[in-house]
Amino acid sequence: MTTPQPFPAEFIQPIAHVSSRLGAFASPHLWFEEIGSTNTAAVRLAERGAREGSVVAANAQVAGRGRLGRSWASPPGAGLYVSVVLRPERPSSLVTLAVGVAVAEGIDAATGLQTGLKWPNDVYVGPRKVAGILAEAGQSTEGPFVVVGYGVNVFRASYPPDVADRATSIETELGRSPDRGLLFAEILAAVAETYDELQGGHSSRILNRWRVRAGTMLGRTVDWSDVSGTYQGTARDIDEHGALVIETDGGVRRVISGEVRWR
Ligand code: BTN
Repeated sequence: MTTPQPFPAEFIQPIAHVSSRLGAFASPHLWFEEIGSTNTAAVRLAERGAREGSVVAANAQVAGRGRLGRSWASPPGAGLYVSVVLRPERPSSLVTLAVGVAVAEGIDAATGLQTGLKWPNDVYVGPRKVAGILAEAGQSTEGPFVVVGYGVNVFRASYPPDVADRATSIETELGRSPDRGLLFAEILAAVAETYDELQGGHSSRILNRWRVRAGTMLGRTVDWSDVSGTYQGTARDIDEHGALVIETDGGVRRVISGEVRWR
């Protein structure tokens, strides 16, 4: 890993402004002008003992990774590419869901937009995706850890034009240039606060906020595949473990991972 650099000037004041909300996420914050993947770097640091709340962020990723083995476009200065190291006391499938809620709330706080969520944790504005989350679990001598990385399309240049029917950026939605430093700070503060809520045993509050944001996605027809076949049903809810509850002709099914396609 190369040596971290100072954060860009536009991040300094917004981070100072939220510092009282950051708790364990107040430091260290490592910034890289260019990196392979902030998740890969954060996993390496966690394997070597990085403490909970460590943050790795980059101006560009040359090997940004998405869910299900996909890549994540990460051109310089166009998005937010951030990973946090978590060491949850109770390993919880709700951690990524909670970070999804936090990313959505942080975007809204910084911009006034109203983002929605699509299971498991894609952040949408209307029908287009604006942010995604990748969680990776591991183990170090300090115990188990989870690295949760989020990528936010801040400027139009953050995603390839050929996905413009499915992706959007904050710049596109606002119709003006957003403040990337403010977005970074508000999202990180929301992650810190939501993670504290989760660790404090308040997962039902987080699930309820998820349900409100996923309102337009629930009640819709979905199909999904697993090792035994492809199925279709109606998305109804998420359960207390964060599984998507789907009503099918053959009964209620709970989907815990993989890809769900919404009709
Ligand atoms: C997805 O929706 O497929 C998840 C995208 C996650 C992208 C972020 S950007 C920061 C972190 N580093 C990575 O390589 N991936 C995540």
